Amino acid sequence: MLTVVFGASGNVGRHVAETLNSVGAQVRLTSRNPDPAVFPAGAQVITADLDRPETLPAALDGAQKVFLYARPEGIDGFVAAAESAGVQHVVLLSSAAVVQIDPMTNPISWMHHRVESALEASTLAWTFIRPGMFATNALWWWRDSIRNEGAVRLPYPDARTAPIHEKDMAALAVTALTEPAHHGRAYVVSGPEALSMRQQVHHIGEAIGRDITVEVSTADQARADLERTAPPFVAEAILAGWKAAADEPPQVSTTIEEVTGHRAQTFAQWAKDHAEDFR
Ligand SMILES: NC(=O)c1ccc[n+]([C@@H]2O[C@H](COP(=O)([O-])OP(=O)(O)OC[C@H]3O[C@@H](n4cnc5c(N)ncnc54)[C@H](OP(=O)(O)O)[C@@H]3O)[C@@H](O)[C@H]2O)c1
Repeated sequence: MLTVVFGASGNVGRHVAETLNSVGAQVRLTSRNPDPAVFPAGAQVITADLDRPETLPAALDGAQKVFLYARPEGIDGFVAAAESAGVQHVVLLSSAAVVQIDPMTNPISWMHHRVESALEASTLAWTFIRPGMFATNALWWWRDSIRNEGAVRLPYPDARTAPIHEKDMAALAVTALTEPAHHGRAYVVSGPEALSMRQQVHHIGEAIGRDITVEVSTADQARADLERTAPPFVAEAILAGWKAAADEPPQVSTTIEEVTGHRAQTFAQWAKDHAEDFR
């Protein structure tokens, strides 16, 4: 039984690939530009781009299962290629945004909704993983300022989120790929606890043994910071998410434990796992 893992260099995809390997599954990894330094020696790696459907038949040849990232641009080509390759089941890394925010008004919700809809309309069996906030966002948002200044700037320091460890999402995906009960299921996923952003920064400080200063910024400053590494529509969506989280605490789900049988990992544990990234 061959499983193709798209995004096998990604935060979640790399752990999906590692975990499948560790249980002895036959795995093919994809990347748009495979870098031998990134993938384990001996792994089956193929060049594929979900936005370029002509690259997909070779990637999917002989596969029964797929771990997929949401790429709306090429999803119809992916469905056609997967159906003709005889793929049976696709586990999609989607987003809780599809059920929390109207896809017609929010581009992040729309892109995941578009991909889910195409899979639902296909002959493929599917499982949707719909996470809220990834813990890895802390690397993106705060790593540089923690390393360089020992500080973070937060427009809504008391906004609470329930960050999810990437290994928990991967464990959920592997369970869905390797056990039969998950076809047609959509799992909304959160981390195990709601924490303010100030508390999250504190956990990172504890993990690296350093006091990190929290400076309160304006929404305009935060937008400008985000736009250094993200397109404006993504920056705007993140800022709106933070503002909403300041007004209303997140729902904490028990999905990880229910589906995988293992407790979801805390943000404090995530910070320890990534301490070197912040030093
Ligand atoms: N961050 C959050 O809080 C959050 C919340 C909910 C849902 N999500 C979902 O999770 C995704 C991010 O997951 P992550 O952190 O694991 O991602 P990541 O670390 O940024 O990795 C993305 C992976 O996707 C692959 N990729 C990008 N464009 C591709 C394309 N056109 N064709 C094939 N592969 C492509 C990349 O592989 P190569 O570069 O090697 O090709 C990379 O391995 C988001 O895009 C979103 O859909 C995120």
